[in-house]
Amino acid sequence: MTTLDIIRKPVEAELKAFDEFIERQFTAEGELLSSMLQYALSSRGKGIRPLLVMLSAAMNEPVRGASLGRRPCLAAMLVEMIHVASLIHDDVIDESDTRRGRPSVNARWQSHKAVILGDYILARNMNLGLQSGQYDLVAHICGAMSALCEGEVLQGDCADKHSMTRKSYLDIVYKKTASLIGVSASSGALAVGATRDKVARMRQFGEALGMAFQIQDDILDYTSSAKTGKPAYNDLREGKITLPLLCVLERMGEERQAEVIARLVRCHEDPAAMEYLRLIVENEDGITSAIGIMRSYLSQAIELLSEFEPSDCKTALIELCAYVGERDQ
Ligand code: FPP
Ligand code: MG
Repeated sequence: MTTLDIIRKPVEAELKAFDEFIERQFTAEGELLSSMLQYALSSRGKGIRPLLVMLSAAMNEPVRGASLGRRPCLAAMLVEMIHVASLIHDDVIDESDTRRGRPSVNARWQSHKAVILGDYILARNMNLGLQSGQYDLVAHICGAMSALCEGEVLQGDCADKHSMTRKSYLDIVYKKTASLIGVSASSGALAVGATRDKVARMRQFGEALGMAFQIQDDILDYTSSAKTGKPAYNDLREGKITLPLLCVLERMGEERQAEVIARLVRCHEDPAAMEYLRLIVENEDGITSAIGIMRSYLSQAIELLSEFEPSDCKTALIELCAYVGERDQ
């Protein structure tokens, strides 16, 4: 299996420059805010979004070395900090105590402080972006922020109503995850002056990869052995119908669907209801169906790269697609 370390290799210097950029620029006023920010930034996870920015910049740069400039770092900061803030807010909404194997910001400092920290990160991000004067990057990336909110509201509404259709599910996944991963890929190309066509193609590539990334996340939620740093079956506990369960529900008659939904409603308090749902998803091919759909998005993503010249960065992007499909964390 390919590893993120191998995929990062062609842009190691760029990612190091990005880490130093964040350390220098992304600071906070006051002791409490500084320590909360430090805590949030000290476990940023896999760094898929900055990696995409840098690989896309390096693959599209007219002369080798342009991706080491300030614009790719700025683009990587803008996407990564929107992501960090959205997860802090997501844990408040989900009342989740754990993120990446350690206490969430809300568990450590309470929800009201976590909300402010997320807001502060978004505000600081916007200030730094506007101060840089790189308005094209700010507009391109921050345009995706509203989609994240729309996806989150739609997801909450579907969970409250215990209803989900394939169309709503794909819309939610597109808005809450694929949109930001899409602009991660396109902003790297934009940062180094790629043509409009190439920027658009990179965005489509990122969006297809992002769809696969979120579907894999939803599959991993059903895998107790996953090293995700989150408790298994969180989505069921929260009443969320994601693709593995949706694929099973779609094949049922109305009566059985109603029976399954009745159990889903009880999942947060009834271990037997949870076990029932876990078993039908496992035994009725929910996971294998979802894997098939996830892989079709990965094939689309790889196909979108076909018009780019061969390069070490293009190979790394193709390997990133394989990693997303195989990842267990
Ligand atoms: C994690 O997904 C959450 C998101 C991808 C988006 C969350 C968006 C918001 C809270 C809206 C606020 C937006 C901004 C810009 C601050 P998940 O819940 O499926 O994954 P998880 O299991 O890791 O929590
Ligand atoms: Mg969540």
